[in-house]
Amino acid sequence: VRPAEPADAAELAALHAAAFPAGEAWGEVALRRMLDLPGSWALLLPGRGFVLARLAAGEGEILTLAVTPKARRQGVARALLQACLVQAMALGAEAMFLEVAEANTAARGLYEGCGFSGRARRRGYYGPGRDALLLALDLRKTSRP
Ligand SMILES: CC(C)(COP(=O)(O)OP(=O)(O)OC[C@H]1O[C@@H](n2cnc3c(N)ncnc32)[C@H](O)[C@@H]1OP(=O)(O)O)[C@@H](O)C(=O)NCCC(=O)NCCS
Repeated sequence: VRPAEPADAAELAALHAAAFPAGEAWGEVALRRMLDLPGSWALLLPGRGFVLARLAAGEGEILTLAVTPKARRQGVARALLQACLVQAMALGAEAMFLEVAEANTAARGLYEGCGFSGRARRRGYYGPGRDALLLALDLRKTSRP
């Protein structure tokens, strides 16, 4: 796992397109802009996956996490998420938040296994009848993610 730079935006876009359904994938330009935002960072496992996060006022947010279908169920997402949480703590984050589709059992299993728990439901966030769950992790109570 290594930090991703704006120059990696094309690789991140290819990974995102492989991981998400057509229409939900984020493009290279959008990803480069996100990497350029103050407080954002990304960690990359080339050819397998990446995580993109952002920190503002002590609160971190996982913006996206993608693992290619071929690389799944090998602990790639867990390794990326744990490295991301370590970096968030090093940057001074007190809590981490993210939104996940209620129906996304793979992602929910990952996040809940890393200690995230539900804070709120956002009805229709991903379209009619497709709710998002807002999950949070209190990093002040976490010694080692
Ligand atoms: C969700 C995603 C990132 C998981 O990546 P992964 O590398 O396969 O996950 P890991 O191998 O690290 O799995 C970690 C844990 O997540 C859970 N998990 C992962 N895939 C799962 C699945 N298909 N079904 C149920 N639980 C699953 C399990 O608890 C797993 O632990 P275990 O293997 O010890 O049982 C991947 O499936 C993906 O990219 N999906 C599409 C994009 C997406 O939904 N991103 C998250 C949006 S918030």
